[in-house]
Amino acid sequence: MQPLSRSHMNRIPIPFGLALVLLVSLVSPTSSCTEQDKTSLLQLLAGFYRDGGLTASWQSNTDCCIWEGITCSRPNRIVTDIFLASRGLEGPISPFLGNLTGLLRLDLSHNSLYGGLPLELVKSRSIIVLDVSFNRLTGGLSELPSSAPVQPLQILNISSNLFTGRFPSTIWEVMKSLVVLNASTNSFTGQIPTTPCVSMPSFAVLELSFNQFGGNIPQGLSNCTVLKLLTAGHNHLSGTLPDDLFNVTSLEHLSLPSNWLQGSLDGISKLTNLVTLDLGGNELSGNIPESIGELKRLEGLHLERNNMSGELPTALSNCKNLVTVDLRSNNFSGELTKVNFSNLSNLKKLDLLYNHFTGNIPDSLYSCSKLTALRLSHNNFHGQLSERIGNLESLSFLSLVNSSLTDITRTLRILGKSRSLTTLLIGLNFYHETMPEDDNIDGFENLQVLSISDCSLSGKIPHWLSKLRNLGLLFLHNNQLTGPIPDWISSLNVLFFLDLSNNKLIGEIPIALMEIPMLKSDKTAPKVFFELPVYAFNPSLQYLMPSAYPKVLDLSINNITGLIPEKIGQLKALTSLYLGSNKLAGEIPEPICTLTNLQVLDLSNNHLTGTIPAALNNLHFLSNFSISNNDLEGSIPTMGQLSTFPGSSFEGNPKLCGPMIVNHCGSTEAAPVSIVLTKEIGTGVIFAIAFGAFFVVGVLYDQIVLARHFG
Ligand SMILES: *[C@@H]1O[C@H](CO)[C@@H](O)[C@H](O)[C@H]1NC(C)=O
Ligand SMILES: *[C@@H]1O[C@H](CO)[C@@H](O)[C@H](O)[C@H]1NC(C)=O
Ligand SMILES: *[C@@H]1O[C@H](CO)[C@@H](O)[C@H](O)[C@H]1NC(C)=O
Ligand SMILES: *[C@@H]1O[C@H](CO)[C@@H](O)[C@H](O)[C@H]1NC(C)=O
Ligand SMILES: *[C@@H]1O[C@H](CO)[C@@H](O)[C@H](O)[C@H]1NC(C)=O
Ligand SMILES: *[C@@H]1O[C@H](CO)[C@@H](O)[C@H](O)[C@H]1NC(C)=O
Ligand SMILES: *[C@@H]1O[C@H](CO)[C@@H](O)[C@H](O)[C@H]1NC(C)=O
Ligand SMILES: *[C@@H]1O[C@H](CO)[C@@H](O)[C@H](O)[C@H]1NC(C)=O
Ligand SMILES: *[C@@H]1O[C@H](CO)[C@@H](O)[C@H](O)[C@H]1NC(C)=O
Ligand SMILES: *[C@@H]1O[C@H](CO)[C@@H](O)[C@H](O)[C@H]1NC(C)=O
Ligand SMILES: *[C@@H]1O[C@H](CO)[C@@H](O)[C@H](O)[C@H]1NC(C)=O
Ligand SMILES: *[C@@H]1O[C@H](CO)[C@@H](O)[C@H](O)[C@H]1NC(C)=O
Repeated sequence: MQPLSRSHMNRIPIPFGLALVLLVSLVSPTSSCTEQDKTSLLQLLAGFYRDGGLTASWQSNTDCCIWEGITCSRPNRIVTDIFLASRGLEGPISPFLGNLTGLLRLDLSHNSLYGGLPLELVKSRSIIVLDVSFNRLTGGLSELPSSAPVQPLQILNISSNLFTGRFPSTIWEVMKSLVVLNASTNSFTGQIPTTPCVSMPSFAVLELSFNQFGGNIPQGLSNCTVLKLLTAGHNHLSGTLPDDLFNVTSLEHLSLPSNWLQGSLDGISKLTNLVTLDLGGNELSGNIPESIGELKRLEGLHLERNNMSGELPTALSNCKNLVTVDLRSNNFSGELTKVNFSNLSNLKKLDLLYNHFTGNIPDSLYSCSKLTALRLSHNNFHGQLSERIGNLESLSFLSLVNSSLTDITRTLRILGKSRSLTTLLIGLNFYHETMPEDDNIDGFENLQVLSISDCSLSGKIPHWLSKLRNLGLLFLHNNQLTGPIPDWISSLNVLFFLDLSNNKLIGEIPIALMEIPMLKSDKTAPKVFFELPVYAFNPSLQYLMPSAYPKVLDLSINNITGLIPEKIGQLKALTSLYLGSNKLAGEIPEPICTLTNLQVLDLSNNHLTGTIPAALNNLHFLSNFSISNNDLEGSIPTMGQLSTFPGSSFEGNPKLCGPMIVNHCGSTEAAPVSIVLTKEIGTGVIFAIAFGAFFVVGVLYDQIVLARHFG
């Protein structure tokens, strides 16, 4: 008990009228929160290792109803709400909170609370909303005696913690009022709970994604007559979708991606209230049934990364509310013309990457005027783009890689009219055509990413590219472009990824290239998302935004001559520099050693001479490095970063010596020793060196090529 006298002293300076009110309220028995409430809160505070400054407000001599984060009921001053989200609290949750008999809502989310979730809270007879999400709580949830009194709890959010163990089945028997259970992002194991609905007539939301639930989805869901949302993605669920799941007609969002679910979608038509269906990343087979047309409210259809096959059903056009259709990486085939896309007037994203669709791009697709992203890459499409693609005024992302497109000049003229395009990926088309140099190629003013790689295009790096003021990434590798690298390249103010590898470019490395602003500064591209993630050859490597790409300059496998400019030292922001397989001569310029962000440095297969600059050891992030097959001399540093690379990084330099290559440095002069050694060991070694060099080039090149087959 706080001595009343202190409260009286506190009110001395307060004006008379207000003091009177205060006095009256103090005198009244309900003037302040109850001692039990106050004690319980102080117990909570006392347990914290960090209290986020709460002590300043939670003074034991004051009414706990005026403490920060506390709300009391009006007439009888009982604590009803504790709102301490994002307060920087660290420590355990005191079981004393269970003594707050009038507590209705407890929000401790987004703190660093640890320890278990006290049973006293779970079995509270007053709490309606319990949110402890985004903490570090551990342990399991305890079983409750089924004889326990019915609990009023409606919302239980324990997501994003470190909870483990099986889900206690008895919880359901006493939590008859539960509406929402969010247990996502924990480490729960065992079968997913499905018996709840028998005893919980209002149960509407069950969120279990990002756990380690396994086994089948058990029968018993059909009693969940008001269940609207069921998500259990990113678990280890297996088996087929149970029949009675398809009886839960109240379902609006069914989301089970990244599990091992099998079977077909044949029962899906009964779920007529579905708005979202996400079964991506499973092992589903069979086709999309014609009955999908019953799902009139469907907005999101995600079946990507499964083993589904067959044609798209005509009835898909009945799902008029579709916004997103993702069928990427399946085995679908047939022509798209069966689907009348004109009816899908809300469609924004269509992703058919990696399937076996054939035929032409259906004309009806050009009426989907809200389309922002279209990816048809890596199918067996043939036929040309229609001028009508210009109707798609919102189209920002277009990927038509390996789609048998021909006539690059016509294609670019048509696409230039798509004013909203930011990402255009059209590699692996137009084989052996000529890159249009035509300055009449116009438009593309918003383009940020352009790939016209792997086309064996002849011609030059075209001047119209210089007008693309927003271009951040340019991929022109694996063509047969000739001529020099143009000086205007430095006028591309936001360019930070330039891949010109494997062409037939000649001339010297232009000094202009050393002036590319984004490679000189730490400035990064604006963080805007791609409309669809971009996948590299390895499907697990995905880029969500252009700015996530590293800063890269790749001129390898061309016919570039001359010296590596000293000014290369200006490109401080570079993380990868590929100059391998050219005809570069002279020494490795010292300023290259100041590019401290470099992770990849490939100078192999040139005519470089001189010694290895010792300061290359300053490149602490370097993980891929090759200077093989040049004419370098002297010894390889035996300490520091360079000494961590294998012999293959250095091989093919007869005058070079070091512990990791055939030429060990003798106590005498290095060069003569190596000559002697080479002579003595003979052709076997030469073969070994040649093989090693081939291997390095092969490996590096494979990585380059592999990483660049876009989706
Ligand atoms: C409050 O709760 C604690 C722990 O749950 C318990 O030990 C204690 O007896 C309770 N105190 C009161 C006054 O009810
Ligand atoms: C916890 O879940 C409830 C119900 O879904 C939700 O209203 C609340 O915002 C969630 N809390 C946080 C911190 O996201
Ligand atoms: C569950 O919590 C997570 C955060 O951990 C949140 O992203 C998700 O929206 C919540 N789900 C529901 C249905 O409230
Ligand atoms: C569903 O509830 C009914 C009673 O309403 C019961 O007979 C049936 O066994 C329940 N089904 C399951 C799978 O729990
Ligand atoms: C699904 O509902 C139908 C009636 O709508 C019923 O005949 C069938 O037994 C139910 N299936 C399951 C597995 O509950
Ligand atoms: C994919 O489905 C086909 C039948 O359409 C089947 O033969 C094949 O085994 C399935 N593959 C996998 C990996 O499940
Ligand atoms: C397209 O929508 C119209 C009505 O807006 C409907 O009559 C027609 O059946 C739909 N076409 C298809 C192929 O679903
Ligand atoms: C795709 O389907 C064909 C038969 O249509 C089958 O031979 C092939 O194995 C399937 N591919 C995959 C990856 O499942
Ligand atoms: C496709 O649907 C549109 C709009 O409903 C309709 O005008 C058109 O005739 C349909 N086309 C075909 C081939 O069914
Ligand atoms: C391009 O597509 C064809 C099938 O149309 C396929 O055989 C070929 O492997 C694909 N090429 C690449 C590099 O993906
Ligand atoms: C480089 O030029 C030579 C002739 O000057 C030619 O034989 C060779 O194929 C060219 N190499 C490349 C990669 O273009
Ligand atoms: C560097 O080399 C490693 C191992 O050889 C490889 O896994 C990695 O992809 C390479 N990175 C780059 C950017 O080339």
